[in-house]
Amino acid sequence: MSALLQIENVSKAYLQPNQGLFNRQKTPIIKNVSLSLNQGECLGIIGESGSGKSTLGKLILGLEKPDHGKIYFDGHEMQTRTWRKLQLQRQLSAVFQDYNASVNPYFKVAQIIGEPINIYTNMPKKARQQRIEQLLEQVGLDLSFYHRFPHEMSGGQLQRVCIARAIACNPKFILFDEAVSSLDISVQTQILTLLTDLQKQLNLTSIFISHDLTTITYLCNRVIFFQQGEIVESIDNMAQLSQTQNSYSKQLLESILGF
Ligand SMILES: Nc1ncnc2c1ncn2[C@@H]1O[C@H](COP(=O)(O)OP(=O)(O)OP(=O)(O)O)[C@@H](O)[C@H]1O
Ligand SMILES: [Mg+2]
Repeated sequence: MSALLQIENVSKAYLQPNQGLFNRQKTPIIKNVSLSLNQGECLGIIGESGSGKSTLGKLILGLEKPDHGKIYFDGHEMQTRTWRKLQLQRQLSAVFQDYNASVNPYFKVAQIIGEPINIYTNMPKKARQQRIEQLLEQVGLDLSFYHRFPHEMSGGQLQRVCIARAIACNPKFILFDEAVSSLDISVQTQILTLLTDLQKQLNLTSIFISHDLTTITYLCNRVIFFQQGEIVESIDNMAQLSQTQNSYSKQLLESILGF
């Protein structure tokens, strides 16, 4: 089976803001990372703050270009002419931590969820309205939310809207970058239940970035430990989580699970 997402020896370096005007030396953030993900898999990426998780996410979404290496989605190299012609961008979607910054505060829920539908399809108005209603139901929000503004909702409800928007155009892949981290524990659990249901219903392939191993164990079937831009350990079966070899991953596990 060929992988849906294939990352081959990808590297990325950035100029750092505090390195002085004349020092043009870039700091490596992602260092020769390779991984592949098959259809239907959920991969967790865990690592300390600043280890490069979100940067890897941005490279996968095509928001940033790798300095070296290649990323293939569905067998096509990303950001090439063929890639753009096939409109493969619509197959990838994302949900971020900061739901408030992810939506236009002047847009009503229907406009927020309907935006990708407008961009990627030419669905007639009535069908679009029905699709938005169906999406609201899928993420556990009733129809009274249709005309609400972001400031009229709780964080958990707004994150549900962001999830509805992310699945609106039936993407094959969704990246969740700390998608539940800002929510309180009970709401986190509700959103995680929703995500497991959606993953099954839609046969989604996803990457779940988090610094919380508990959420990753709940959602994912594989996990990679990320440290200073490198994969230091890769676990392909969550049942073997306690058999980690690398000292950094062991340390992370101990701090969370109290082994
Ligand atoms: N566009 C950019 N320009 C310069 N440096 C950047 C840029 N994006 C990220 N970095 C740097 O890359 C490093 C990794 O950042 P990144 O956001 O990927 O970390 P992270 O693992 O997602 O951290 P966190 O868990 O806090 O979200 C940081 O030192 C950050 O300052
Ligand atoms: Mg991050």
